[in-house]
Amino acid sequence: MAAEPVNLNEFQELARLALPKMYYDFYAGGAEDEHTLKENVEAFHRITFRPRILVDVSRIDLSTTILDYKISAPIIIAPTAWHKLANPEGEVATARAAASCNTIMVLSFTSSSSIEEVAASCNAVCFYQLYVLKKRDIAATLVQRAERNGFKALVLTADAPRLGRREADIKNKMIKPQLKNLEGLLSTKVSSDTGSNLEADAREAMDASLSWKDLEWLRSITNLPILIKGILTREDAIKAVEVGVAGIIVSNHGARQLDYSPATISVLEEVVHAVKGRVPILMDGGVRRGTDVFKALALGAQAVLIGRPVVYGLAAKGEYGVRRVIEMLKDEFELTMALTGCPSVKHITRNHVRTEHERI
Ligand code: FNR
Repeated sequence: MAAEPVNLNEFQELARLALPKMYYDFYAGGAEDEHTLKENVEAFHRITFRPRILVDVSRIDLSTTILDYKISAPIIIAPTAWHKLANPEGEVATARAAASCNTIMVLSFTSSSSIEEVAASCNAVCFYQLYVLKKRDIAATLVQRAERNGFKALVLTADAPRLGRREADIKNKMIKPQLKNLEGLLSTKVSSDTGSNLEADAREAMDASLSWKDLEWLRSITNLPILIKGILTREDAIKAVEVGVAGIIVSNHGARQLDYSPATISVLEEVVHAVKGRVPILMDGGVRRGTDVFKALALGAQAVLIGRPVVYGLAAKGEYGVRRVIEMLKDEFELTMALTGCPSVKHITRNHVRTEHERI
């Protein structure tokens, strides 16, 4: 067995060693120059702490509540595609890890295990991530299946009318694996798993005409709460609240869509100020340390989602690896809370961090 990693970055290295180059590049890569990919991580580095001392931190409570679901820490599994490329158990292993860590998993629309397999495998609280295809009835079918199988919310990913230009995938001629939930629902061309071109297939399938008015349609086909993922501006945050979403996910899709999008942590506060507490705000992108989780909460997020580290854990050590990734991040977050003087997540405030724009 490979050495025990001591942080999330070491899991990335183990994943790189474990995976065929094409798959590793698919998981690790970002759009074009990968400027935003680097920025997502580096923008966290520019935020420092204003730690408080002599606070009783003999007991630390990391738990929080997201849409009425109590979870052990404000760390959720982001929707990421094709877990079977990382491990033959696919999303079933990831969901089991989520259940044992008492957190939420957002199952990707492009998952390699089906909604039904994931639901049957464990009692994890799962949300379902939706892309809307030109064939609108597919969304309705998938939403019904998610509801029937006890999924608790929908996450509409709204930053992908087209697929971003990921040059590693172009060079590697990345194959498109099976889209388990879409079997029998798509045309042969789009569902074929050999020799396909990811970008061209996505362009053929995705409904690039999707707009704000379609949120009404989405609400008409489900009773589940809808979160919208991909918000980076105050304007869109206000629109999302106006159309009645249950939550907002500040995200740039892990820097895989529009290069030179801002690092998510750098725009979180803009969104938080616009929303004024009307709906919960989550964020993802570049969270690799417990200190990052703390910084996101201090700037107003209720929780963070983690994408790549989960697939790296899965590739390196299967279900156990995903569990370790979440536990490690929780341990680091707990230590950060102790060292900043915050015995519970409610104690984390804007005053505990200093951004690069603030003078000392
Ligand atoms: C993603 N992401 C993503 N998002 C989504 O809504 N549906 C999806 O199917 C996918 N697929 C996907 C695959 C891979 C390999 C990656 C890395 C990312 C984006 C994901 O939900 C999340 O926004 C980012 O991964 C967060 O950034 P980090 O944690 O990877 O830095």
